[in-house]
Amino acid sequence: MKITKVMVIGAGQMGSGIAQVCAQAGFDVKLNDINVASIEKGVQYITKNLSRNVEKGRLSEEEKASVLSRLTPSHNLSDAQDVDIVIEAAVENMEIKQSIFKQLDEITPKHAILATNTSSLPITEIAAATNRPEQVIGMHFMNPVPVMKLVEIIRGLATSDEVYQTVEQMSKDLSKVPVEVNDFPGFVSNRILMPMINEAIYTLYEGVASKEAIDEVMKLGMNHPMGPLQLADFIGLDTCLYIMEVLHEGFGDSKYRPCPLLRKYVKAGWLGKKAGRGFYVYE
Ligand code: CAA
Repeated sequence: MKITKVMVIGAGQMGSGIAQVCAQAGFDVKLNDINVASIEKGVQYITKNLSRNVEKGRLSEEEKASVLSRLTPSHNLSDAQDVDIVIEAAVENMEIKQSIFKQLDEITPKHAILATNTSSLPITEIAAATNRPEQVIGMHFMNPVPVMKLVEIIRGLATSDEVYQTVEQMSKDLSKVPVEVNDFPGFVSNRILMPMINEAIYTLYEGVASKEAIDEVMKLGMNHPMGPLQLADFIGLDTCLYIMEVLHEGFGDSKYRPCPLLRKYVKAGWLGKKAGRGFYVYE
């Protein structure tokens, strides 16, 4: 199946990044959000990223203009009536995702693929809200999307081979590296990453070392580009807690219990970089 028209739902950091790489790869992209101000912010983020590429000599002004011309703001889901694929990157809430997918099932053409960028919610359950579960799939990008090469492609219970192959090819067309994963809590990325971050928070909570020391150990000792506490701030502590809860509930295993210090920070509103404060303070 040939993909030319894409809708990205959710103009936050992930959605905007996905829309950017799709438009750069030559797809026609509708960037959809219920909030008009978010769409404007998303387009600004993309424009800023493209301008930096122009400054660095990686993109010409003409190419930048051409990428932006392939990007159309949308605040109505009915704009999905002519797309080949939707990539949903809205909030991590099953009820909201199921409601969006139910509507998309009615709006989009019969052939359209419905993908979700969820970082941990079950693809199979999202697919169950539609009459086309074989065309529903997980397409999990990493933050920052324009930089990170991975796309974790998650097969739901009913996802067809043809849909998998189309999404795999599209990921390659976006200059990303696709990796095939089955639908279990946290998939592979967050099943491994989040317990590591949670353990780093326990290490801080138990006074084993300072936050700076914990991050330094993992940066210099394990060659990670940023330490786990800084990365947690970067991802958002609310997101980290949410994913730990999905793992804890999904596996029913106490090894996934979220650290009380993580809960405390989230309750305080210290959500990380986006809130100006998490484990570190951001100006
Ligand atoms: N958007 C676009 N480009 C960005 C960017 C952003 N938000 N942040 C950085 N970049 C680009 C910079 O422009 C720069 O590009 P050039 O050198 O080509 O100009 C490049 O990335 C490197 O940036 P910096 O030199 O400023 O900083 P750095 O060396 O620290 O790299 C980083 C930044 C790539 C983000 C690096 O710190 C890193 O790899 N961090 C870890 C990222 C990570 O683990 N992401 C996964 C998070 S988990 C997730 O996403 C899944 C989930 O479900 C929770």
